[in-house]
Amino acid sequence: MAERISTMITQEQIQARVKELGLEIAAEYKDRPLVLVCVLKGSFIFAADLARAIDLPLRVEFLGVRSYGEGTESSGVVQITQDLSKPIAGEDVLFVEDIVDTGLTIAHLMDLFRTRQPRSVKVCSLLHKPARARVAVKVDYLGFTIEDKFVIGYGLDFAERYRNLPFIGVVERD
Ligand code: IMP
Repeated sequence: MAERISTMITQEQIQARVKELGLEIAAEYKDRPLVLVCVLKGSFIFAADLARAIDLPLRVEFLGVRSYGEGTESSGVVQITQDLSKPIAGEDVLFVEDIVDTGLTIAHLMDLFRTRQPRSVKVCSLLHKPARARVAVKVDYLGFTIEDKFVIGYGLDFAERYRNLPFIGVVERD
């Protein structure tokens, strides 16, 4: 079966939107320091670009998560495989996600992190697929709403491939 990649969101569109998100976030937090939590692995490229677009004193943390599910479906049972390097009590925390699909992963992380008593917790996601939502999740800063297609590139993978594509694409099989 031949694989073809079609472009859904171009590199230029992503870069322009990331700049806008950075400005919006910096304006909202004013000069307060922010803890950017990059949810691994899918958001590593988005988080790297977003961090450079936010003109605030920043601390960057990485959170390793594994979601148990069938194939491409998330189950909502999320295991932390790598935790933050420091506590977040009293801090403003912003989760950086690649995509909110069923919403189960981020809903679970929000519940878990609220028990750590941060000053605030918000979510910034590059993509959102509302057609697949299984729980209501408030995405405070959103790059793009997309239709129900499995996407790859700009950090997102299919079986660990395609993370290095500079755009968001769809794998077409013919
Ligand atoms: P959720 O728990 O269903 O919202 O999904 C969370 C995770 O599933 C995302 O952070 C991605 O890593 C992965 N995921 C969901 N949809 C896609 C997709 O279309 N392409 C690649 N990964 C996806």
